[in-house]
Amino acid sequence: MSEPRQVTGWVSNVKILGKIAFIEVIDDLSLTPITIVVKKETNSELWELVSKVKLGSALKIEGKEPQQVVSKKGRELHAEEVQILAEPQDLLPIDVTGKTPASFDDYINYRYLALRLPKIRAVFVARSIIFQEVRNFLTSRGFLEVNTPKIVKAGAEGGATLFSVDYFGEKAFLAQSPQLYKQMLMCGVPRVFEVGPFFRAEKFSTTRHLNEGWGLDVEMGFINDVNDVLSLLEELVTHVNKRLVESMGDQLKSLGFNIIEDMKQFPRVTYDEALKILNSNGFDLKWGEDFDPKAEKFLGEYFQQQGTPAYFITEYPWDSKPFYIMRNGPQKSYAFDLDIRGIEIASGGQREHRYSELYRNLVDKGLDPNDFKFYLDAFKYGMPPHGGFGLGLDRLVMVLLGLQNIREAVLFPRDRFRLVP
Ligand code: 4AD
Repeated sequence: MSEPRQVTGWVSNVKILGKIAFIEVIDDLSLTPITIVVKKETNSELWELVSKVKLGSALKIEGKEPQQVVSKKGRELHAEEVQILAEPQDLLPIDVTGKTPASFDDYINYRYLALRLPKIRAVFVARSIIFQEVRNFLTSRGFLEVNTPKIVKAGAEGGATLFSVDYFGEKAFLAQSPQLYKQMLMCGVPRVFEVGPFFRAEKFSTTRHLNEGWGLDVEMGFINDVNDVLSLLEELVTHVNKRLVESMGDQLKSLGFNIIEDMKQFPRVTYDEALKILNSNGFDLKWGEDFDPKAEKFLGEYFQQQGTPAYFITEYPWDSKPFYIMRNGPQKSYAFDLDIRGIEIASGGQREHRYSELYRNLVDKGLDPNDFKFYLDAFKYGMPPHGGFGLGLDRLVMVLLGLQNIREAVLFPRDRFRLVP
């Protein structure tokens, strides 16, 4: 037996076999419970206590690890002392043994209890690793982590998805993205990133849209061209996935997650090439049209068959992209998307850094340059060529774990029908 140690956690299963009690406890951030063993003959007082312990109770246990573990789950503690810290007052609304699945909504309504289930806990452990690795990678590349306002005067991504706020009698909005601010910062620091919430008043309900999400925004100055941005994004996503697989790939696989074990080099196809692939496979899309989810799904499967779940689509029509994107000839732009498994994860591009061209872009998109004066001013004082991207972190978690619905990747999702919990 080992030195005595302490375990704290919640009872996720109780089995009494004759004169031995096996209490499974979900402790720390582990994905498999530890089995607490109590034998009637060694400690009858303790036996009295644990034989009545309720499912879901919070316990503190002192005990020793045996030399030989009998439990299939791999970790065992022979209890010497057990304290019941809290007991459920009601029947648990979801089955924490995981034997009877709850509804999709109940896993969200009772998220705090669902987190005791290894498969749900694993998602949020993975999410935390993904967020940390994003920060590690960008910091190691000399990017400054910044924080920009979330209550703003002007929308950056179009008027249709703005939530308005009454700001002391003045009309303001919740930020759809840090776009304008991260670009303004390019006039003072060469490379920035932000991990933060964004708000989009999208009225529809899909498996990939939220009304409040977490995004990664990156902006880099002094670029040669948009390829510098594509390369950085490719390296970032590859790094994050590699670290995720190294840290918990085996556990994720054994819990049934369809992870991406090997992220190959990302193919880069132009919008025109993607359109050709689609139209030669039964689609009838006109030049300039956006790819709908059906088309995206098809492209996802097309690239999956080639063993490359992640791919870039570049040179989008300028008309389909926001005003801040640099034009590439009369009709095209330096905008790109990164799709993984048929879902758009990030969009970005090279920005227009020349004041007069940017002013013209605003007018051409039907926007009033006066509303953007604070932003435009930054382009007067030595704005270098720059580019970057916005990446949906909730979507990244979703695709790297092979989840079907973005809500599974978020603790307390905000969608059209969900404002609580
Ligand atoms: O494509 P979006 O709207 O691009 C921007 O926000 C630009 N400022 C990016 C840039 O730097 N040019 O959003 C970026 C990403 C999307 O690719 C998607 O992954 C995610 O944010 N996203 C959403 N995720 C969940 N729900 C929504 N409603 C989302 N809207 C965008």
